[in-house]
Amino acid sequence: MEHEHTDSVRTGRRRRVLITGAGGQLGRALQDVFSEDDLVALAREDWDVTSPPSDTVSQGKFDLVLHTAAWTDVDGAETDPEAAAAANVGGTANVAGLGAPLVAFSSDYVFDGRKGEPYVESDRPNPLSAYGRTKLHGEATADSDAWVVRSSWLFGATGHNFVRTMLRLGAEREEVAVVDDQRGCPTFVGHLAVGVRELVDGERARGIWHVAAGGDCTWAELAEAIFVDAGIACRVRRISTEELGRPAPRPAHAILRSEREGAPVLPHWREGLRACLEQLGR
Ligand SMILES: NC(=O)c1ccc[n+]([C@@H]2O[C@H](COP(=O)([O-])OP(=O)(O)OC[C@H]3O[C@@H](n4cnc5c(N)ncnc54)[C@H](OP(=O)(O)O)[C@@H]3O)[C@@H](O)[C@H]2O)c1
Repeated sequence: MEHEHTDSVRTGRRRRVLITGAGGQLGRALQDVFSEDDLVALAREDWDVTSPPSDTVSQGKFDLVLHTAAWTDVDGAETDPEAAAAANVGGTANVAGLGAPLVAFSSDYVFDGRKGEPYVESDRPNPLSAYGRTKLHGEATADSDAWVVRSSWLFGATGHNFVRTMLRLGAEREEVAVVDDQRGCPTFVGHLAVGVRELVDGERARGIWHVAAGGDCTWAELAEAIFVDAGIACRVRRISTEELGRPAPRPAHAILRSEREGAPVLPHWREGLRACLEQLGR
């Protein structure tokens, strides 16, 4: 299976790439970045990954699978951990079962955030939430022969994400209350997709890779940057995680960095924010 995807280059045929969760924010960004490949982009209505693939998909002879389909409702996973696991563990098993070279996506939420410095690939995970546990279990299910890409605080011009929520709230209110005691690396999906292409095309070894934006900030700092860059006059009131009172515990300090040679280096999160706002026409 190793380097199978390069066979298409040797034979001159376009690489056949399957994207799961194609309606999600990362799924869409990957379609843009892998647009020169022979893409089969399946949204949830085309393949709900909690079920085995159709015959057409299982016989698809894919050179590469980019598996983004996932249960991403972190708080919802606390009330329905079985459904979250069905998607993030069972779904990943179904996708890995295709037997094609696989990129599976995971999260900074596999860590507890107590290390006090950035997390590298060899650090021991200890998820605090049901979502984090399903992602960690999903990593193991992806198979040791997959690229497991852990990233963090994703945002893009489509879908549900913090940047789009702040743009909406900032237009409606004079002040928003935002958590200031969780620190992470807000990562633009367009930049992550380029990093993924680098891993695959550069024929990097399989296994876990941390691929997240440069720099780090709190959610409140990110909100302030959004309002400055988008020219929105809305104040940010800094609050604590406890004050917000969300159901799922989240790591307080989960900054992802790579210790692996040849790891993709993504632009700083401020650059990602600018690129996202530009795509939104702001
Ligand atoms: N978002 C983040 O901050 C973040 C951070 C780190 C890692 N990640 C990981 O990165 C990957 C991509 O995340 P994202 O931000 O692009 O998420 P997203 O925007 O929520 O996209 C996920 C997509 O998967 C679909 N989906 C959910 N359950 C499915 C199922 N059973 N079968 C098929 N499709 C299903 C969703 O469809 P519906 O919309 O219809 O549910 C959605 O289109 C995921 O593995 C996620 O865990 C995300």
